[in-house]
Amino acid sequence: MKKILVTGGAGFLGSHLCERLLAAGHDLLCVDNFFTGTKTNIAHLMNNPRFELMRHDITFPLYVEVDEIYNLACPASPIHYQFDPVQTTKTSVHGAINMLGLAKRVKAKILQASTSEVYGDPEVHPQTENYWGRVNPVGPRSCYDEGKRCAETLFFDYWRQHHLRIKVVRIFNTYGPRMLPHDGRVVSNFVMQALTGEDITIYGEGNQTRSFCYVDDLIEAMIRVMATPDDFTGPINIGNPTEFTIRQLAEEVISLTGSKSRLIFKPLPVDDPKQRQPDISLAKKTIDWSPSVELKSGLEKTISYFRAQLQSGAIAQ
Ligand SMILES: NC(=O)c1ccc[n+]([C@@H]2O[C@H](COP(=O)([O-])OP(=O)(O)OC[C@H]3O[C@@H](n4cnc5c(N)ncnc54)[C@H](O)[C@@H]3O)[C@@H](O)[C@H]2O)c1
Repeated sequence: MKKILVTGGAGFLGSHLCERLLAAGHDLLCVDNFFTGTKTNIAHLMNNPRFELMRHDITFPLYVEVDEIYNLACPASPIHYQFDPVQTTKTSVHGAINMLGLAKRVKAKILQASTSEVYGDPEVHPQTENYWGRVNPVGPRSCYDEGKRCAETLFFDYWRQHHLRIKVVRIFNTYGPRMLPHDGRVVSNFVMQALTGEDITIYGEGNQTRSFCYVDDLIEAMIRVMATPDDFTGPINIGNPTEFTIRQLAEEVISLTGSKSRLIFKPLPVDDPKQRQPDISLAKKTIDWSPSVELKSGLEKTISYFRAQLQSGAIAQ
């Protein structure tokens, strides 16, 4: 049994990670400032004596004793990370410094939840880990993209300078139950619009492609990356390489929900990447991983979650 800290543990991915690590018999410390995370996401874990919840903002130092740290704290959707962009950069950069400082003090192994956004609007397709990216440093998405890039830099400097055991995971679009209903991310947007019978908003003509990874596949990969030998640092891409156009996704959601929603088209937001697809050769080789959940089955689980939330009144229509 290990003592494991999950920052951002009350969020979408964090809550699934806490659940899996607890089930594996570990002792969990979940740290969150509840900016986008909720107590409801982890309510089912609260009675477990091996689970502890701490309200804390990782832009401030944290003094705890742990063996491993998964650093997930950071708002992930444009609506939330652009709400207070300075705080977003602070969370990535000061947060990384604080968590790396903690890892150094207690000699913990530390994993960073980085993102495909470090590739920006890529000229290389699909993206491999050695591609340096094409990111606008001064746009409205930069607080997130550049914050995450700087966090990666810090991880690698702590590794070179202080010999910390680090793992950097670049997460591509992931979806599933416990995403926030109104956070502007494409899957939750489409599912909510379809379930409430609203028009489904497509930005541009819907020909931009995305790959969607179901949350269970992603969590499995993160846990496997943490368990890799100490000389493996990443960065490592984790995501689903099967590409769909945004329009195909919308049509699949309409068909699975049986919705009467129509598709409507709006202009593309600034710096929206046109294409994003992970090359996961490294993940296949290093952790023997590739996604196993098909889009249809992942969407069905996500749709039932949102349907139940709407029916119980947990989310307003
Ligand atoms: N979901 C995806 O598709 C995706 C893709 C790429 C990267 N990621 C990364 O994975 C991580 C988790 O993303 P998510 O989708 O679960 O988002 P989320 O918004 O649901 O989770 C983030 C959590 O961090 C917490 N948080 C934010 N700022 C904090 C701070 N300063 N101190 C403490 N807690 C703080 C939030 O309250 C929330 O619980 C993020 O770092 C995100 O950048 C996610």
